Amino acid sequence: MSTFLYDDTFDEYEDAFNARQIRRAERRPKKLKPDKRAHDKPVKDIIGGLSDDPSDTTGFSMTYQPSQFEAVWLKDSLHPLFDKAIIMDVLASIKGGKEASVYRCEAHPATGAHLVAAKVYRPRMFRNLRNDAMYKEGRAMLNSSGKLIKESDMRVMKALAQKSTYGDQVAHTSWLMHEMNTLNLLYEDGARVPRPYGTALNAIAMDYIGDEHTAAPPLSHVTLDSHERTGLFVDVMRTVDTMLKHRLVHGDLSAFNILYWRGQITVIDFPQVVSIDSNSVALKILERDVQRVCEYFADQGVTGTSAYPCDPVALMDGFRRRHFRRLSRYREADFSRATLPEDVED
Ligand SMILES: Nc1ncnc2c1ncn2[C@@H]1O[C@H](COP(=O)(O)OP(=O)(O)OP(=O)(O)O)[C@@H](O)[C@H]1O
Ligand SMILES: [Mg+2]
Repeated sequence: MSTFLYDDTFDEYEDAFNARQIRRAERRPKKLKPDKRAHDKPVKDIIGGLSDDPSDTTGFSMTYQPSQFEAVWLKDSLHPLFDKAIIMDVLASIKGGKEASVYRCEAHPATGAHLVAAKVYRPRMFRNLRNDAMYKEGRAMLNSSGKLIKESDMRVMKALAQKSTYGDQVAHTSWLMHEMNTLNLLYEDGARVPRPYGTALNAIAMDYIGDEHTAAPPLSHVTLDSHERTGLFVDVMRTVDTMLKHRLVHGDLSAFNILYWRGQITVIDFPQVVSIDSNSVALKILERDVQRVCEYFADQGVTGTSAYPCDPVALMDGFRRRHFRRLSRYREADFSRATLPEDVED
């Protein structure tokens, strides 16, 4: 199977970068420690710093040759993962999508892995997320350590309400940390998700699925063999069950966010997780997830098992019985009446 090299248009990085430069200059030029000043160098100097320039003291090398502004953004985004001894080198772009770009990186030996996937979020991803209010309902804001931001933190709350630059950054980091926390939780519980290694303000490092030439394709690009397809369907549904055990719904589950590699599936892409206890459309979101997965597997000829029939209605019955009992009758009725905004039904 071929690698996923998509057309990259990183134009937006240019103005994102310029905006950051201006913000930094406005915010704290006088208080910057000398070693932080490197970030405020002119663009050409930073790009120069990505080459084999011996004056580059960061030691962060990139075998991958990015375009000019991708380079600036990449270095800024991935440098903390280098500092934390998670990655050593950026080897190739796996996929440059509309929301995030994912890179194959050489892992630092301290991780125990050979390769690591670095998911770098596009600057505007979370602001462009359609119906983001639906996913944010009942969901706490997380700081860059993945901890709850208290509502009594007036500075942050004000910035969020005013949607200031700082507020946007806080919101952006919160989405990313929801993805990281979910990966941690599920990986620790043995679910089929990539092992997370660490985060930077704009990036997550996790297990890379694939080999040094080819990244694992999403299920949507794969035709399954008859001997494996039912087992893989059950693995996906067990992952859904594990998430529900933790009171979570993926929120964007489909054959596009399930990777296939050497007879195994790995579920990815979790920033939109919602809580079944505090999000009034969680059940509807789950229904949509289940429906999309069933569509793919039914096309592959899967009928399912008695525990996991490949039928959205029967599956939802089981999930309700196992995980939604705790909800009061009133709450469940509320959930059942809820509808998703129309334009998410794509
Ligand atoms: N851990 C990984 N190992 C290998 N490839 C990965 C990994 N994580 C992501 N990818 C690749 O990167 C793509 C995008 O990742 P992801 O789905 O997490 O981001 P996204 O925000 O949905 O981006 P897009 O909108 O472009 O799909 C995946 O479809 C997959 O091809
Ligand atoms: Mg995706």
